[in-house]
Amino acid sequence: MSDKVEVGLIGCGLMGSQHARNLVEIEGANLRALADVNLDAAKRLKQEAGGKYCTPNPQDLFNDEKIDLILICTHHHLHLPFAIQAAEADKDIFVEKPLALTIKECEQIESTVKHMGVKLMVGFQARFSPFMKKLKQSVPNPLVIVGQMVDPRWGDDSWANDPIEGGGNVLSQGCHLLDAVCWLAGSEPISIYAEGGNFTHPKIPEITDSVVSTIRFASGCVASVIIGDFGSPALVGKGFYELFGGDKTATLSGYYNIPQIKFWGIEPQTFTMNDLPIGFRNSSAAHGYVGQMEALIGWVGSGTDPTDAAKVGEGLRATKLAAKAIEAIKSQVPQKMP
Ligand SMILES: NC(=O)c1ccc[n+]([C@@H]2O[C@H](COP(=O)([O-])OP(=O)(O)OC[C@H]3O[C@@H](n4cnc5c(N)ncnc54)[C@H](O)[C@@H]3O)[C@@H](O)[C@H]2O)c1
Repeated sequence: MSDKVEVGLIGCGLMGSQHARNLVEIEGANLRALADVNLDAAKRLKQEAGGKYCTPNPQDLFNDEKIDLILICTHHHLHLPFAIQAAEADKDIFVEKPLALTIKECEQIESTVKHMGVKLMVGFQARFSPFMKKLKQSVPNPLVIVGQMVDPRWGDDSWANDPIEGGGNVLSQGCHLLDAVCWLAGSEPISIYAEGGNFTHPKIPEITDSVVSTIRFASGCVASVIIGDFGSPALVGKGFYELFGGDKTATLSGYYNIPQIKFWGIEPQTFTMNDLPIGFRNSSAAHGYVGQMEALIGWVGSGTDPTDAAKVGEGLRATKLAAKAIEAIKSQVPQKMP
């Protein structure tokens, strides 16, 4: 490995661009190659974020011996083949969420990554958000967690609603919330029950767009989780978390707009954007995207264990929770984890 981590990016759309912009600011990283079937998208991003070459063919990145780390920022049906190819080419890997759309696919990725001995991080960047960290630190052993991630209705033609490419709201976006409640609980989920189904997309009956679920953890903690695209929560905003610890409570609202935490039993009683260091008062840092890339480069470059990161097993766990919630809705039977 050279003195910098040489990075190859696959998928130069919304998230690929976000990560490329953040990588430019990290001293130990060098964005070397950009792959996108839409070569113009790769070229545009190269102009902005740099890089040695662009290609429409991700195979060129797997064949490039100089590349240490591959970022996979494509739609979800391509996470499995690209993660397997990257691991078999002996590259470390970052996969945007969800790790993959089925338990079986995630298990395939996990076994290949373990067999090849490469590192894999999943894009659950909320774990690096200073707001989420504050929440976890403030109530480290919650008895009860409430988590909610609810959007206005997504378009029927959104790729994320495509059953093959995206998987629908619960698998596609709900995985963020399912991962976050496990991380906040600091414990493994042992069972999940859910009600819900297809409330807002009758023209795409294959997808599950709405879930109200209960998760029980090994610690005894119970989480109540609401996911979907059935409206905009006007008071608390799209991202809402509440941790009850018996003698203290922390409530994070407006996570995706103007995040703020209010406490009961903890002083001072609020935590807002103004409590962050000046360099963190922007969306990319406040939501954890910057910290996530720094931890990734530190892990690949110097072997520094990224304690907050979601690794392959946690990517599998989030998809498993979403899949089991969907199974519980269909069967009306609580599902055991793992
Ligand atoms: N962590 C987050 O907060 C967050 C937010 C949005 C999206 N995402 C995730 O990021 C990933 C990408 O989503 P997006 O919104 O950036 O999508 P996007 O549509 O903006 O970008 C996807 C890119 O992949 C390219 N692509 C398609 N097929 C390809 C192939 N065979 N080889 C190479 N490139 C190919 C497309 O041309 C496009 O440029 C998804 O996993 C999504 O869930 C994460």
